[in-house]
Amino acid sequence: MVTRSRRWLWLSVLALGVGFGSVGCAEYFPQSTLRPMTEFTEKIDNLFSLIVILAAAVWVVVNGVLVYSLVKFRAKPGDPLPPQTHGNTTLEIAWTIAPAIILAIIAVPTVQTIFEIAEPPPETNIHINVVGKQWWWEYQYREHGIVTANELHVPVGQTVALDLTSTDVIHAYWIPRLAAKRDNIPGRTNVIWFTAREPGEYIGQCAEYCGTSHANMRLKVFVDDQATFDAWVQRQKAAAPQPTDPVAQRGFQVVTTGACAGCHTIQGTTAQGRTGPALTDFGNRTTVATIAPNTKENLKAWIRNPQEFKPGALMPNLNLSDEDLEAVSTYLLSLK
Ligand code: CUA
Repeated sequence: MVTRSRRWLWLSVLALGVGFGSVGCAEYFPQSTLRPMTEFTEKIDNLFSLIVILAAAVWVVVNGVLVYSLVKFRAKPGDPLPPQTHGNTTLEIAWTIAPAIILAIIAVPTVQTIFEIAEPPPETNIHINVVGKQWWWEYQYREHGIVTANELHVPVGQTVALDLTSTDVIHAYWIPRLAAKRDNIPGRTNVIWFTAREPGEYIGQCAEYCGTSHANMRLKVFVDDQATFDAWVQRQKAAAPQPTDPVAQRGFQVVTTGACAGCHTIQGTTAQGRTGPALTDFGNRTTVATIAPNTKENLKAWIRNPQEFKPGALMPNLNLSDEDLEAVSTYLLSLK
């Protein structure tokens, strides 16, 4: 008797834990789809909730009937062998039709939602090409003529369309609270769109296995108020500031006359490469290589040995001297 009540106690604790755990995820995890922040993600969340409610109702009915039968028809000592049955046409038709009706009920809002979110609405006034690359993201702002990388900035309250594509393998762009997960496919364009309601920082990631550093292909979306966004746009367009301190000046020389310039763009300098992420305004980015805080220590570690910092990274190890490493990272962090 003691054992049985203890078992029930543990089961209850487990159930409560799972319950509170789910609520906790929704409340605190920044990548929760259960906290939609746009009309786009709300439509998907509403559909999900409807399906969960229907599934829960089915679960209660099926398990209710099961428990009722277990109790009501349990064998008692001395019972004779019950009548043996084989097949029941009425029941079989019923449990075929009931799920068909439930699936039909789910299909209507599902198809409706698919069409509602398929195309950006006419009021969309910002179009951005999002190009997946191993293992980072390039953003091309069509109206603003800006190219930047990894950290997307959009103004609050404006409808933004993201045209997703790729230049190497299939990736998937996913910012759970703002828009759905959708594939970046070479030679094809998929679109997602959203109108962010509140300024803030939203975290996302690549959601399609794309090679060694798939798990390190992260991204951030900053929803800015209009003035902050306009200032950000101006900084991406403006020529990078000329470094004044000698260490940064040396870094400027190394970056703009050496190998870096062949792959990276810094506005207003000879660095105009497009193979790697654009570095204009790099000092205002929050991350290095999408995975670590943008500190000098991390930046140096990344440039010193890209493959150790981010396995499989395609940036070559340039074997810079310690002095050049210090100079290059000082210069890059001064770009703001
Ligand atoms: Cu890109 Cu996974």
